Order: sequence, then C-alpha cells, then structure tokens
Amino acid sequence: MDKVTVLGAGTMGHGIAQLYAQAGFQVSLYDINNDILKNALTRITNNLNLLTKYNNLTINKDKVLHQISITTNLEDAVLNSHFIIEAVSENLSIKFDLFQKLEEIVDEKTIIASNTSTFSIQQLSEGLQHKDRLIITHFFNPAHLVPLVEVVKGPNTPKELIDETVEMLKQIGKQPVVLKKDVPGLIANRLQAALVREAFYLLDEGVADARDIDLAITAGPGFRWAFIGPLETADFGGLDIWKSVVENLAPHLSKEETIPSSINEKIEIGQLGTKAGNGIFQYNGDDEIQKRIRERDKQFIRLGQIKNSN
Ligand SMILES: NC(=O)c1ccc[n+]([C@@H]2O[C@H](COP(=O)([O-])OP(=O)(O)OC[C@H]3O[C@@H](n4cnc5c(N)ncnc54)[C@H](O)[C@@H]3O)[C@@H](O)[C@H]2O)c1
Repeated sequence: MDKVTVLGAGTMGHGIAQLYAQAGFQVSLYDINNDILKNALTRITNNLNLLTKYNNLTINKDKVLHQISITTNLEDAVLNSHFIIEAVSENLSIKFDLFQKLEEIVDEKTIIASNTSTFSIQQLSEGLQHKDRLIITHFFNPAHLVPLVEVVKGPNTPKELIDETVEMLKQIGKQPVVLKKDVPGLIANRLQAALVREAFYLLDEGVADARDIDLAITAGPGFRWAFIGPLETADFGGLDIWKSVVENLAPHLSKEETIPSSINEKIEIGQLGTKAGNGIFQYNGDDEIQKRIRERDKQFIRLGQIKNSN
C-alpha cells in the first residue's frame, strides 16, 4: 500500500494520520516537536480504543499503530511519499518555510494538500515554485470522526490530481466536497460562522441562556442537519414559506462585524474554553473536560454508524 506523509501532529494532524493508517496506508507523521509526536500516538491509541468500544467495526489497533511512524526528520518523512498533507500551525511564514524545504527534497509531481482553515489557495501557492501541485483538503475536528473534507483546487490544478485526491479521501471513509470557487471560509465554516454570529447575538441580547441557545440547535435544526441540509430543508418546508421567512426575518438578524462582547469578556479573563478550563460554560476541572470530550466522541461515533448504515 502507498505511503502518505502528514506534516504537523497536533489537533488535526494526529487524526488525519490515524485515518490514513486505518485505511491501510503507511503513514509518516512529522513534527518539529518530539513530545507532540509521542503525544499524537497516545491520542491515536485513545481514539482507537474509543472506536473499538463503540463501533461495530473491528479495528486492528496494533496494525493501525504499526503503520504510523513518527519522525522529526523531514527527509525521512517524505521519502517515497507521493501525497503530503500539511497540518502545521496556521501561520503563513511557517507554511512557506516548510514548502520551501519540501520543494528541495520532493519531486515536482508530489501532491501537497494543505489543511488550512483560513488561507486561500492563491495565498498558499505563493510559497511554492510548482504551484499546481498544491490543493486544500480541509478536514473537520475531530478529523477521525467528522466525514466532511472540503477540497479546493487552484486555477490550473490538473483534473487527475483532484480525481486522485477525491478517490483517496473516499478510500479513507470521507465525504469530499470539491468547491467550484475558492472563497474565504469555504462552505462549512461560512455556514457555521453565520450561525455562531447569530448565537452570540442572541446570548448578548439576553434572549436565552447559553445552554438553551445550544439546545435550540441540537434538538431542532441540528437534529435534521446530519441528514437534510439547509437547501433541502427549504424544499421540504416550501420555497414560498422560506420567501416569507427571509423577507420577515432578515432585517432582524445580526449583521455584526465586530467580535461579540461575550467573547471579548471571556477572553479578557482567560476563559478560552475547554483548553483553559472554562469558557462560555464552566467545567469542573480537567477530568470533567476529558469526560465531556469522550462523551462527544462517543456520540459522533454512533452518529457515524447511523449515517453509514443508510
Ligand atoms: N483545530 C481545528 O479545529 C482545525 C480544523 C480544520 C483545519 N485546521 C487547520 O489545520 C492546521 C493545523 O491546525 P491544528 O489545530 O492541528 O494546530 P495545532 O497547533 O494543534 O498543531 C500544529 C502542529 O504543527 C507543528 N508545527 C509547527 N511548525 C512546524 C513545522 N515547521 N514543521 C512541522 N510541524 C510544525 C506544531 O508543533 C504543532 O504540533 C492549521 O492550518 C489549521 O488552520 C484546524
């Protein structure tokens, strides 16, 4: 089976490496930080344990782990690899520096797929001599569980390169969506950001408390969205109804371009969310946070099973 290389072993990189290994690829996982690499293997082991516990599929944990090698040596990482996934920190100069080193050691046909959340393919490709080899494959966190991968091509990306990427993504169990245009935030984060803006607006306006605003989504539209997207929902509701919804509601929706005050206030006191112990919600120490993350992943595994059984 082919070898792939994942650069960056943090939140996204470790999950992406796991996915390719689960699908039978040899994976070289590279990072500049050896502790992060070791931690990535621990995280992958924990992910696999949870998958084995809650998924009917049998996963040979030892085999998956055996297929992942970790390294801080870039040349070793990319040796004999035709497909490289870049998941290093979201910093353009770090990415450019890495691209430059890569182009010195890989042949010009090697595909580089960036997992960037915010840089356009045009911005990213400025860091490369062979620009047409670069694409974006944007995974979602937790990468080993969320099926979507958005794929962005450049103006001259060969069709075969996209076809090959889409095929590989399907092989690792993903549902790729290839964008026809490169737009900031791609599709999913634009939709998500529009909703999150409104959620914070409702919170800041005191319409309901945070728990109830979240419940209004998870028990309402969110319940449907795993199977029926917003456009099909409009069809089911009737486009005449949605005409009225937009007409009557659009003037009242948030068009705010500044950061919601509840975000700023929390940041000021260091409450950045689970990584800082508290955020919009209060958590009772790291044990509770880890428990909540395991619970979240368990539910995602179950949802994935339901979706796959269709
Ligand atoms: N976290 C998310 O929810 C999410 C979702 C989708 C996409 N992304 C994108 O994925 C990429 C990685 O994000 P993350 O959340 O995993 O970040 P992270 O901070 O968890 O991990 C980044 C890793 O890159 C490593 N690194 C930094 N410089 C490096 C270099 N020169 N060579 C090799 N490794 C280097 C760091 O040591 C770290 O382990 C970013 O482009 C981000 O925008 C993140």
